[in-house]
Order: sequence, then structure tokens, then C-alpha cells
Amino acid sequence: MLKGKHILLGVTGGIAAYKSAELIRLFIKTGCSVKVIMTRHATEFITPLTLQTLSGNPVFMDMFSLIRDHDIAHIALAEEADVLVIAPATANIIGKMAAGLADDLLTTVALATKAPVLICPAMNTNMYENAIVRENMRKLASRGCHIMAAGEGELACKTEGSGRLPDLQDILDEVQSLLTEKDLAGKRILVTAGPTREPFDPVRFITNYSSGKMGYALAIVARRRGAAVTLISGPTVLPVPSGVDFIPVSSALEMREAVMQHLKTADMVIKSAAVADFRPSTRADDKIKKKSGPLTLTLERNPDILAEIGKKKEGRILIGFAMESEDLVENAKAKLMKKNLDLIVANDVKQSGAGFQTDTNIVKILDRAGGIEELPLMDKMEVAGRILDRAKQLFK
Ligand code: C5P
Repeated sequence: MLKGKHILLGVTGGIAAYKSAELIRLFIKTGCSVKVIMTRHATEFITPLTLQTLSGNPVFMDMFSLIRDHDIAHIALAEEADVLVIAPATANIIGKMAAGLADDLLTTVALATKAPVLICPAMNTNMYENAIVRENMRKLASRGCHIMAAGEGELACKTEGSGRLPDLQDILDEVQSLLTEKDLAGKRILVTAGPTREPFDPVRFITNYSSGKMGYALAIVARRRGAAVTLISGPTVLPVPSGVDFIPVSSALEMREAVMQHLKTADMVIKSAAVADFRPSTRADDKIKKKSGPLTLTLERNPDILAEIGKKKEGRILIGFAMESEDLVENAKAKLMKKNLDLIVANDVKQSGAGFQTDTNIVKILDRAGGIEELPLMDKMEVAGRILDRAKQLFK
């Protein structure tokens, strides 16, 4: 989603400057171009050569140089940027920006640009908590700058607390969010994702291969597009997406309870979780001992959450998923009607590149009027975008 965008990265003089190298790589991987401005102090921590090599562009430091023949550096850089990211941002740059100073290239560009500005603070805990730094951040926020909260943990100065550079993936997410049109603003979307675990003793359970990737992609993209997102997730190894209300659950019964609790406030529910249809009828209090001969487990039906909320729609938009290994379209169509959905997203487990665990999917989106939109093999983030495009039309 950042393809073709121009990111201007300001690196200032804190120990976290070394992380800017990795941040540049993350940006570049998305297909955008990165130009870097370093303050003089930043060059004490990491060399311009490193950032120049990784960004594939000259690193800018000097106020009084020309880019190309006659382009003045601070104006050309400020105009070209789609976003200015300052990471790490020291207390010093925050203070200078809050005061409206322009005594080096970075502060001058920050004043000259009309692009959104994202500030990612990193400093010692006492500095981060200092009242004047707080006040400066509030002032910048009130003038339209976007300020990320610093991370918590062990700092380079050996103290524990807040002041770490925000997680690099969160910075990337924030940039993507800043550059995304907020066409779902004001909408409240409930997404379910991942597998469920159905225990039959304290250490064992039945589950499926769902990774949660499709549902997390939906939550991330919906949030970037301005929706207020609640993500109810079964156990996955994925990082919790930033900016969403995250509710971890384990079993289908827990998922049902969480969905019912949050249903009232949702304008749309997207159920991409692979909820187990059956659970063991009993759960032993102690670990079941190994013995010779077979062990028989009796399974009973779990509630079909989607079908249940389809019965009391109350104007909500409902989107379900169907993963099938045969008669994909017929089965999906039947589910769409039976569960009273607005859309169903169908995929064939047998197709390579589709379904569980992969980063890609091949889906068909079916609607109630009988329309079938067939999407080619795509990244799950892109699939999420296409599903939300269809969902948006339903709001009208
Ligand atoms: O009928 P099937 O289980 O294939 O339907 C899949 C859809 O129904 C998915 O959207 C899934 O999240 C939802 N579902 C559910 N509760 C269940 C089983 C599936 O909400 N117990």
C-alpha cells in the first residue's frame, strides 16, 4: 500500500538511531522510496553511508546544498514527501519543532512540508516523562503532528521504563495508516480470526490449521481505513495489531461469549475465524493416562455463532467465510442464504496459495443477488482491501 510513495525519514541523535537502518529496510520492502535527513548528532551514532546504502538515495544533512541543478534541498524534499517520519525523535528535535525553530535541514523541512508528520520519540525515561517534553509533544499534536507513544522496556541507559523507540512494525503500520484514505471512518467493525481450541483434558485439545492471517489482515486494513475495530482472536502466533481493541479467546464457547458481548456496538461483523464445529463433550480434570487400547472421545456440536447472529441482524452487515474442499460455490451460496449473510468469502482449501497458513489467498466473494466476484491469487492484505471495498458499498 506504500508502493510509489515517497517517505522522508528524519534521523536524530539518540542511541536508537541504529534502528533507523532496519526501519529503512522495512519501508523499502513495501515498494516505496526513502530519502533520509540526518541531524549532525545522528551521524555520531550511525554513519550516513549505512543509511545511504540501505535507502539507495543520498543522505541529506546540509542546509545549504542544492539537490539536482537548482533545487533548494529543504524545499524540494519537503514538497516531494508524502510523509515525514522522524525516528528516532529526541527531546531536542521535539522541543525545537514545538518552538517553531528551523536551525538545520530537518527542522526547516518539518516547517516547510505540507505532508503529514509522524514523530516517533526515543529517549531516557526521565526525559520522556519530563513535563516540558510532554508539553512540547502536546503542542505538536495540537498543531496536527502525529506522535507515537514510546515503547516500554529496558533502555540503553540501563533503566527500565518508557522511552524506547516504538516497535518498527508499529511505525510502519502508522505510516500506512496515515497514507490511507479514511473511507471507513465512523464504522465499528467486529472481526473474528484464528482457530479455536477445544480441550478434552488440561493439556490436550482439538484444533485446526488456521493461522489467523486473513482475519488479522482484515482488522489491520479496516483500522487503517478509519474503522474502529474489535478483533476477537483464537490462539495465533501473530503480533497484536496496533490500534485495535484486541480480545483473545481460546474455545468456540469463549468466542461466542465475546462476540455476543461486543455485537451491540458493531455496524459490521466479519467472521473469518475457523471456529471448531465440534468440541469434546467432557473435559477431564486430570491428564488422561496412557493405556493400551483406543481412547474414544465423544464430540458435540458447538454453537454456530454466525448463524446465531444472522438470526438477529438488527441492520448489521454480516460477512462470513466458507472454506470448502468440494463444490465451493454451491456450498458457499447455501451458507450465505442459510446464515442470513450479506457476503460470503469462499476459498477452496485444495488450491495452492489459498486458505490456512499462507500469506496469500484465492477467493470468490458471493453476494445475495447471486453475484460472484472471482479474485486472483493475492496477498491477504490485498484480499482484505477488496473485501472491505465490497463491504463499504453495503453501508450505502
Ligand atoms: O458452516 P461453516 O462452519 O463452514 O461456516 C463458516 C463461517 O461460519 C465462518 O465465517 C465462521 O467464522 C463461521 N462459524 C461460526 N461458528 C461456528 C462455525 C463457523 O461463526 N461454530
